[in-house]
Amino acid sequence: MNTVVVPRVVRALFTEDEAARLIELRRDLHAHPELSWKEARTQARLEDALRASGIDDLRRIAGTGLVARIPGRVPGAPVIALRGDIDALPIHEATGLPFASHHEGVMHACGHDVHAAWAAGAALLLQRTPADGDVLVVFQPAEEVGQGASRVLDSGALDGVRAIFGGHVDRRFEVGQVVAQPGPLAASSDSFTITLTGAGAHGARPHESADPVVGLAALVSALQTIVSRRLDPAQPGVVTVGMVQAGTAPNIIPESAELRGTVRATTAASRDLIVGEVDRLSFSVAAAYRLEANVVWGQRTPPVVNSADGAAWAREAAATVLGAESVVPLGTTNMGGEDFAFYLERLPGCFLRIGAREPGGEVIAAHSPRFHPAEDSLFIGAAVLAECARVASRA
Ligand code: NI
Repeated sequence: MNTVVVPRVVRALFTEDEAARLIELRRDLHAHPELSWKEARTQARLEDALRASGIDDLRRIAGTGLVARIPGRVPGAPVIALRGDIDALPIHEATGLPFASHHEGVMHACGHDVHAAWAAGAALLLQRTPADGDVLVVFQPAEEVGQGASRVLDSGALDGVRAIFGGHVDRRFEVGQVVAQPGPLAASSDSFTITLTGAGAHGARPHESADPVVGLAALVSALQTIVSRRLDPAQPGVVTVGMVQAGTAPNIIPESAELRGTVRATTAASRDLIVGEVDRLSFSVAAAYRLEANVVWGQRTPPVVNSADGAAWAREAAATVLGAESVVPLGTTNMGGEDFAFYLERLPGCFLRIGAREPGGEVIAAHSPRFHPAEDSLFIGAAVLAECARVASRA
């Protein structure tokens, strides 16, 4: 691995000892990854790390989550929230890192080990140089299953908060580069299961059936016309059918067939359009083939849409910490989902992409068994998020 030089101004915010402890925290979390809703060791480890930094206003929330309150310096000033997600993925690690996963088949393949560590680092920096208002540092469980953010909101922990900031490591950008822009940043994610029910028959007597396999084939093709014929071509959108299931033997027409898929969009309007069209086509294609359709929507996450003021505060923060040239455009919108979207439905704020590629390093996608963010990105994330809180609470 190449060595990265973290901008000296950022590194100087931490003592040698603090930097070493943050790296140790991150490596320990990386070596002991835990799946969504199972982050008990992670929760306890973060509590220990925060207490060791003198932060003891800690509260367990949302099951395996945690919130640390860092007092501000101006009574009554707006309260700001920072969020780091903490869960891992069911992936067998192949990074070869010396602190690779000790948990067989579980891996921090999305960098949430770094996100948790940079949230702890931001808490440390805010304790030393407070924001005007109190800052709530939220360690959120279960991002990967799209459930944790809603649970945090339901807990009431963020009631009365003015704005929220969070970020994601990204190896498309070098360490020291930051994306902080208004508008869509990541896509909505909605999964569906469609069951088509007809009438089974002998494969040699199709006229006695209402064949759900033929209907399924027609529906898979019809669903592909949503993005190509119904959605404004200037709007990104995805309809993927990833699973089809029907039948028990070559010569039997089954009673029912099932398809499962996912829908992605970057605005509430295009999301509504695509979801509505999946419903409409399912029922109308089913009717055309004398079948009945049942459509069930599973995990539903809105698009991540940064507010104008949230993005402006984040840009100011990144420019203060790293210089204005560090703020770079996103380029192509990421069609992956991210449950930070639930916070942004309720609160102003900004979700940032934090560069995590060593100079000359390889672009590796998150969720790859070889994914590893450059370690120094944790200092950048900590410093930029802490500054976001300072800027937003005085704005
Ligand atoms: Ni992630």
